Amino acid sequence: MHRPRTLPMMTLLACLLAASPGRADGDRAAAQVPLHPAYRQECAACHLAYPPGLLPAASWRRLMDNLPRHFGTDASLDAATLQQLNTWLAANAGTHRKVARDPSPPPQDRITRAAWFVREHDEVPAATWTRPAIKSAAHCAACHTRADQREFRERDIRIPR
Ligand code: HEC
Ligand code: HEC
Repeated sequence: MHRPRTLPMMTLLACLLAASPGRADGDRAAAQVPLHPAYRQECAACHLAYPPGLLPAASWRRLMDNLPRHFGTDASLDAATLQQLNTWLAANAGTHRKVARDPSPPPQDRITRAAWFVREHDEVPAATWTRPAIKSAAHCAACHTRADQREFRERDIRIPR
């Protein structure tokens, strides 16, 4: 009696799959990992406190090793804070599935140069990025209205004119 047993099994499997969090939910959870207080304090002074899951560990390491020469600015930290943040970043790096799927760290260790980022944003025309209200792709909050809550869902996007 094969059939009558397989069918309930398939139904059970379908229910389990439906109940498990989907890809987008997993990525939302990854983006919303609670921020280390020192990270929130030190790394949100000039731009969004980028979710650690959006870059691989190697990128965070290089960025943190070069804070005195950080994209044309000095973002230095004291040794103790640096140490704390290195540990925290290493533990939370690359958790976004899109990041894990990219073969290597992005150019300049920029989220905005990652293959997944370029793909997700391919519908944004080149001229849009340079609008005065946006200026830089790194300015996530210009379009993602809930970026400060590390929420990047489509429904929360408003592209400024
Ligand atoms: C003094 C200002 C300042 C501080 C403080 C600062 N940054 Fe930056 N950061 C910048 C600038 C400027 C850029 C380049 C932005 C652009 O290209 O529009 C940048 C870019 C970045 C990028 C790449 C963004 C992209 O294009 O994907 C990352 C990642 C980053 N910063 C992480 C950090 C971290 C981590 C800290 C805290 C240790 C930090 N920043 C603190 C000024 C700062
Ligand atoms: C010019 C406006 C703009 C800026 C600036 C911008 N984005 Fe986006 N983002 C978009 C648009 C448009 C989409 C595509 C939405 C879609 O089709 O699902 C998108 C999609 C995404 C997605 C995928 C969303 C999903 O649910 O699949 C993520 C994650 C994301 N952006 C993160 C970022 C981050 C992080 C930054 C800053 C480093 C950033 N974006 C800067 C407009 C922008």
